[in-house]
Formats: sequence, structure tokens, C-alpha cells
Amino acid sequence: MTSTKPFLSALRGEAVQPAPIWLMRQAGRHLPEYRELRKNAKNFLDFCFTPEMAVEATRQPLRRYAFDAAILFSDILVIPHGLGQNVAFREGEGPVLAPVRSLDDIEKLQLDGVNDRLAPVFETVRELATTLDDNTALIGFAGAPFTVALYMIEGRGGTEGPNIRRWAAEKPDEFGRLIDLLCEATANYLIAQVEHGAEALQLFDSWAGLLPESLFRRWIIEPNRRIVEKVRDVYPDIPIIGFPRNAGVLYRDFAKQTGVSGISIDAGVPMDWAASELQPICTVQGNLDNQILLCGGEILDAEVRRIVDGLSGGPFVFNLGHGVLPPTPPEHVGRVVELVRQQTA
Ligand code: CP3
Repeated sequence: MTSTKPFLSALRGEAVQPAPIWLMRQAGRHLPEYRELRKNAKNFLDFCFTPEMAVEATRQPLRRYAFDAAILFSDILVIPHGLGQNVAFREGEGPVLAPVRSLDDIEKLQLDGVNDRLAPVFETVRELATTLDDNTALIGFAGAPFTVALYMIEGRGGTEGPNIRRWAAEKPDEFGRLIDLLCEATANYLIAQVEHGAEALQLFDSWAGLLPESLFRRWIIEPNRRIVEKVRDVYPDIPIIGFPRNAGVLYRDFAKQTGVSGISIDAGVPMDWAASELQPICTVQGNLDNQILLCGGEILDAEVRRIVDGLSGGPFVFNLGHGVLPPTPPEHVGRVVELVRQQTA
């Protein structure tokens, strides 16, 4: 059955008007009701693994804003947790992991049983899939291997990845073992999300832009391509969005070579380039600057109009260039939805 949900039509290549909209990190700390709900969990991973809370966090933004898609509430770091790595989220500090720095450390990771250890996530997906309204699509997601490996190797966020970049460059055979393992675990995890009702998938490669061209091809394009291929072996028609953030002109080869249905672009990508170079290959998603969303006012209105004007001639989904920042006033998000709904090309 072909769905008529606007977000899914856009990912099949239609120039849907008005453009469908959702925002990366639409759930979470910018919402007071999330901050309230969050107090009930002893830590963030527990929160993600309690279906009742994760379902509620997923729904919260949909009550406020007329979004076309819900994104499963979880985190990209559930995969290292599922592989047996020690992962903790500390208040005010973000994720802290026992770093993987050697072949021995890689060999300790347990691919068998990952999906069993992540079972509560699939329960959340199932509950959402059976209760969302008819026009709202459900997006499942995972981190792409390089970005997940960055946290696994560095042991925390907020770095430029000195250890991972060195390992990837100097000992590609060793590093490749970790990437292979992540491809396998991630593909299986995404397949299970679709099995439980996810209607589209996004692969977050937030740190893709750290790599020079040759390494980008090997550690960004190739692993994303393999995951798309593995998922499509089981679900040939599932729409998949790639997000190799800050890829510059390499967005084009990423889009061509991975087989994604959509590409999410950062706020620095020029509209005319995205329209002429990317839209002929796949649906473009983006790319409002999250800082401008935080500012609001005339600059916000002008930027939304510029993006919609530039991209709604082709297949397009309105989104940010990177996730909603925690101090963002909810009214600014409401304003963006209103503007996007009003404007057609
Ligand atoms: O609304 C949504 O987008 C759904 C949920 C979601 C979260 N994280 C919830 C979250 C999604 C899709 C993610 C993806 C994610 N997680 C990425 C890729 C996207 C990006 O922003 O680049 C990355 C790199 C992570 C890893 C991660 N998770 C970090 C670095 C942190 C700490 C910093 C931060 O932004 O909070 C997290 C924690 C996290 N993930 C929170 C939320 C709501 C905050 C935790 C809390 O409430 O205490």
C-alpha cells in the first residue's frame, strides 16, 4: 500500500507543497514538559529504555507543533551500550564511555544479542506506530558508524576526534574491524525498527565533516552505503535519510553512492547548489541554522522564506542544519511551522 503521508511522499521524490516539516532534536530539552518528564528517570539511558517515557517524549513536540513526522525518542549511543560498552550520561557533561582504544577492546564488544539488549526501544517503536495519527510518519534512527565510533573511542563528546582520526588514518585494518562491527549492529538494529513499525530511517553522521576526502570515502560513504544495502535487502522500499554533516561538495557523492532517499544538509550549504546538484539525485532535507531559530524575529522569517523558495521546486523536507538547541523558545519553532505551511513555491 502506498502511503499518502506528505513526509513519505517527499522522500519518494515528489515536490510536496507545502513542504513537509520536522526538526532534528524536536523532542528534548527545549520543551519544559520534557524537562519535567525527565525528572522521573534516574538517568538518561533508563529514560530511553522505559517505553512509557520514550513514547511520551516522542509525542510531546507533536502536541505543540503540526509536524509531519515523529522521531523515535532514543539516542545514537544505545548501540555502544548494546555492544556491552560502559555508557553513562552525566548531568551537564553529556555522554561518558569507557574508551575503546585497541583491538583487544574491540574484541570485547558483543555483537550477539545486541537487539535483545535494545528490546525496549522496539517496544517504543511499536507503541508509537500503532497510535500516531494518519498524517504523521514515524522516523526510526541510528548513528552512522564513524560518528558512533567517535564517542566510543574518545570516550566523550566535545572533541575534534584526535584519537579516532589517528586510528582511522594509521591503522585502517584495525579501525575497519570496529566499523564493520558497527555496520552489522546498526543495520540489524534499523531492520528491527522497521519490523516494529518505523516508516522511514535517518542515519546521523554528525562528525562526517572531520575527515579529508579519501578518508570520507572510506569511513563515511562506504559504511553508510553498506547499511543502506543491508536494510534494503530486507525492506527494499524503506526511505532512508543520510546526514553526513559538514560534507561540503562531498554531499553529492554521498547521495549518489550510498543510495539514500534523502540527504539532510547543514546550514552552510548554498540553496542553488543544493537545488542543482542534490535534488536531481534525491530529496533534500534542511537546512535552517539552529542559532537563527534560537534568535527568532525578522531574520528567522527571512531565512525560512529563503530556504523554502530555494528548495520547494523539487523534492524537499524542511528541517534544521543541526538539532534544536536547548535554550530555543518553543514559540520560535511554532513560527517556523506556520511559515512553512503558508509558503508554496
Ligand atoms: O527529538 C529527537 O531528535 C529524538 C531523540 C534524539 C536524541 N539524540 C535525544 C537526546 C536523537 C535523534 C539524538 C541523536 C544524537 N545523539 C546525535 C546525532 C545528532 C546530533 O545532534 O548531532 C548525537 C551526536 C548524540 C549523542 C548525544 N546524546 C550527546 C553528545 C548528548 C549530550 C549533549 C546533548 O545534546 O544533550 C546526548 C544526550 C541527549 N540525547 C539528550 C537528548 C534529549 C539530552 C539528555 C538529557 O535530557 O539529559
